[in-house]
Amino acid sequence: MNNSPAWQALTAQQQRLASIHLRDLFADEQRFQKFSLKACDIVLDFSKNRLDEAALAALFALAQERHTPQWIAKQFSGEKINHTENRAVLHTALRYQGQQPIVVDGEDVMPKVRAVLNHMGEFSEQVRSGQWRGYTGKRIKTLVNIGIGGSDLGPKMVDTALEAYKHPQLQSFYVSNLDALHIQQVLKACDPETSLFIIASKTFSTQETLTNAYTARQWFLNHAQNEAAIEHHFVAVSTNAALVEKFGINTNNMFGFWDWVGGRYSLWSAIGLPLVIMLGRDNFHALLKGAYAMDVHFQTAPLARNMPVILGLIGLWYDNFFNASTQAILPYDYALQHLPAYLQQLEMESNGKRTHRNGASIADMKTCPVIWGAAGNNGQHAFYQLLHQGQHLIPADFIVAAQSQADNQSHQAAVLANALAQTQALMAGRNEAETRQQLQAEGLSEAEIEHQLPHRIFAGNQPSNTLLYKKLTPEILGSLIALYEHKVFVQSVCWDINAYDQWGVELGKQMAAVLLPEIEARQVQGQHDASTTGLLKQIFNGYD
Ligand code: F6P
Repeated sequence: MNNSPAWQALTAQQQRLASIHLRDLFADEQRFQKFSLKACDIVLDFSKNRLDEAALAALFALAQERHTPQWIAKQFSGEKINHTENRAVLHTALRYQGQQPIVVDGEDVMPKVRAVLNHMGEFSEQVRSGQWRGYTGKRIKTLVNIGIGGSDLGPKMVDTALEAYKHPQLQSFYVSNLDALHIQQVLKACDPETSLFIIASKTFSTQETLTNAYTARQWFLNHAQNEAAIEHHFVAVSTNAALVEKFGINTNNMFGFWDWVGGRYSLWSAIGLPLVIMLGRDNFHALLKGAYAMDVHFQTAPLARNMPVILGLIGLWYDNFFNASTQAILPYDYALQHLPAYLQQLEMESNGKRTHRNGASIADMKTCPVIWGAAGNNGQHAFYQLLHQGQHLIPADFIVAAQSQADNQSHQAAVLANALAQTQALMAGRNEAETRQQLQAEGLSEAEIEHQLPHRIFAGNQPSNTLLYKKLTPEILGSLIALYEHKVFVQSVCWDINAYDQWGVELGKQMAAVLLPEIEARQVQGQHDASTTGLLKQIFNGYD
């Protein structure tokens, strides 16, 4: 694939730009106007990237060569583009605000989508108003979502992000980890008479979730001493009614979704139930509306003014042409503290692949970078040293709220100053002459200046995007998440991979299933490699 005309043109562009410093590109005073755009009330400033008009045009040519507009149309139309699972990819139907049918296998899915949304809305109102009662007649005060991966990260991230919108008398917890410590810690904070457990699992067969769910069920029964009480305290979100019933949850209290919703794209579905309860149906609806606005933008804006396309192509530019291996996500909005973890799954589970759609190995290009990050100012005091003076090229997305969700804005000027200063420092750096001047201003002796100089220089030339919005509302958050979802899709199209399967999670699960009975029996039974056998023996003999 890397011998296609568009790819070759990009290679030439990279060679031309490789020795040009970002500072020099900023000699153009119109750079912000040329390399920024606004969509859905979010500004994307991509001027601090190592590209110019010619390189950008070459990136758009690649998107054209890979038929990106056609792939966008295919996805939204319900075509089964997840070909290894023979599934449509229609998380966008979950937030669709129009009146047209969306057809999968000859059936319009929209009536089912609206029915589940309605069910979620009605149920959430019962819980929020106190009409829904626990087995002793008390109202619900604590919500515990038990799920993992897409059944945890999305709802948890949004729940935290929209702190200011939460019901004041409800508290929420998200339990995901298999280590019993996680559920134990949460159960300590729960009262069985006033807690509602949402068991969230698309398949309802995920080991971590089911193990935690059974522990919660047993804890509850130890108090209630009555199986009939379960239906007041346990509801399920799943595509698998049979397994939900087997667990003992009344399927009237089950909220369904469909195989055309991928786990990591599912927060818009019934997986969002804890959000509807915590935030209320209107705010959840606003989240959907924000995502829909980005969907419309993605489908209708020309490539050159299309925010997800631009974000996707810039990421690819560094992965494939500058040999970057990672991408940092740096929210300067504390509410988005869980966004890096959410995007890790979204991007790495989608595009961490080494096989083209037709089954051929990807030999000549890298796919998804390692996604990582942390809330802005905290990161500055931890890993930014490496961003500024390390040897890696690390493209970074700065996600910046002009206003905080806090009641007072007294810290906000400092937050904004830090965010903007970091992107500026990464871009411009500080050269030898400037550093010398700085050290002179600090009053250092000439000898001390010579000693310190090499350690105090900043090479700069580190690229970043800035995504800026006024304040994190449900609409803005919906648009922001949809922006990244579509970015991932654009990249998958350019790499010619299926973003919507996740076979890579299977092997470890299968091997764990083989080891589990041996560990339970505390005896090595099977033939394993020397390391596994050695570790098993240590567990059995060394730490008892
Ligand atoms: O990690 C694999 C995965 O299948 C994810 O894609 C998914 O989000 C997660 O496990 C949880 O799956 P489920 O919702 O079926 O429990």
